[in-house]
Amino acid sequence: MARSLPKYTVPSLSPEEGAKLAEILQQRLNALNDLALTLKHIHWNVVGPHFIAVHEMIDPQVDAVRLMVDAIAERIATLGVAPVGTPGALVKARTWDDYSIGRDSAIAHLGALDEVYVGVITDHRQAAKDTEELDDVTNDLLIGHLHELELFHWFVRAHLESAGGALSTGSADGEKASADAARAKDKASA
Ligand SMILES: [Fe+2]
Repeated sequence: MARSLPKYTVPSLSPEEGAKLAEILQQRLNALNDLALTLKHIHWNVVGPHFIAVHEMIDPQVDAVRLMVDAIAERIATLGVAPVGTPGALVKARTWDDYSIGRDSAIAHLGALDEVYVGVITDHRQAAKDTEELDDVTNDLLIGHLHELELFHWFVRAHLESAGGALSTGSADGEKASADAARAKDKASA
């Protein structure tokens, strides 16, 4: 849906530039809203011996991602555009599938979450690149998020890492394959 141009935007940007930035940010708003919900789903569905470690690791990530969502939505509004935060619009606009794992072991969820973070961070980095020339403030916002998102990704990967530094998810492609690879490696080393 082509958006109409904002009636105003931040000083020194044109309405066209404001609209372009808002469009990039709306996609990040969708992705991080989805991530916050997915993280809670994992928090509730993780089972097995590592339950408490993963259950408790996830909540601070949810809190941080929700703050990112709020900052993105308010930046869109600051740019003169209405942020869209409804679930129906999110599902309609998203280009990825719903998280596919229900009740499962910590290691399977972490394998899948590794893949989720790869997707979110890759797109967030692209959005940062796409705003680099246009708007330092939006770019700085996204870069700030990446500091935290990449740290959280490492927290996840540290559970999947061997003493030799290799990830058990290896070259597995996709959430299910990553979960299976992490699960298989965990069984083999048990
Ligand atoms: Fe909880």
